[in-house]
Amino acid sequence: MRLEGLLVDLVPIDKRFDELEHKWENGEAAFWGDAGGRNFFSHASVEAHQKERAEERAKGGTTWVGLGIQTKAGQPIGVFFLGNMNPYHRTAMFGAQIGEPDYWGGGYGTDALLLAADYAFNWLDLRKVWLGTMRLNVRVIRQMEKVGFTLEGTQRGMFLAEGVWYDHLMYGMLADDWPGYAAMIDKLGLKVRP
Ligand SMILES: CC(C)(COP(=O)(O)OP(=O)(O)OC[C@H]1O[C@@H](n2cnc3c(N)ncnc32)[C@H](O)[C@@H]1OP(=O)(O)O)[C@@H](O)C(=O)NCCC(=O)NCCS
Repeated sequence: MRLEGLLVDLVPIDKRFDELEHKWENGEAAFWGDAGGRNFFSHASVEAHQKERAEERAKGGTTWVGLGIQTKAGQPIGVFFLGNMNPYHRTAMFGAQIGEPDYWGGGYGTDALLLAADYAFNWLDLRKVWLGTMRLNVRVIRQMEKVGFTLEGTQRGMFLAEGVWYDHLMYGMLADDWPGYAAMIDKLGLKVRP
């Protein structure tokens, strides 16, 4: 499966992404992705986790889908997850991590989010997607606002980041509110990069 966007494509997570996971999980992106966590992951633990995921997938019945985010030139820059997928309620939780900080703030994550939302609503027939972030994460908050997610809940003082406690903000979007990938690209004025 390959979801083709303007700035990025979402593709199956292959060896190229696996090889970068150790760098990404020990880099700055992990601090934001893990809401303030500063963990160290050995090569062995990353490989064990990859093996576990592969075994889980092979067994079937997983409740998550992971996709690689790559630039239009084919450079792997991060991953996007649809987790906690519930076929009865038709809901899923989103999670994104661009592991290469040079690619933050340039619209790549938003293009990935739009592709994932379109996939969730128009292909998987989900009726709701949601995601949570710490209040310190201004890039995600800005993304949620511009893409039209609703702030649905706040859990106070949930995350410790650099010695300060931050709220957990929970955002959601319903399928009925989703205008479609092309309409969102138009609305946001996302442009192909030269
Ligand atoms: C979260 C993430 C996927 C977003 O992708 P991205 O490509 O950086 O996001 P975009 O550039 O599409 O949008 C970010 C917006 O935040 C804005 N922004 C960036 N830095 C900002 C700052 N310091 N203050 C306010 N806004 C800021 C950008 O200008 C942009 O808004 P704009 O389009 O109106 O200019 C990416 O930043 C990332 O992987 N970060 C590290 C991991 C992480 O935070 N994961 C999510 C955990 S919930």
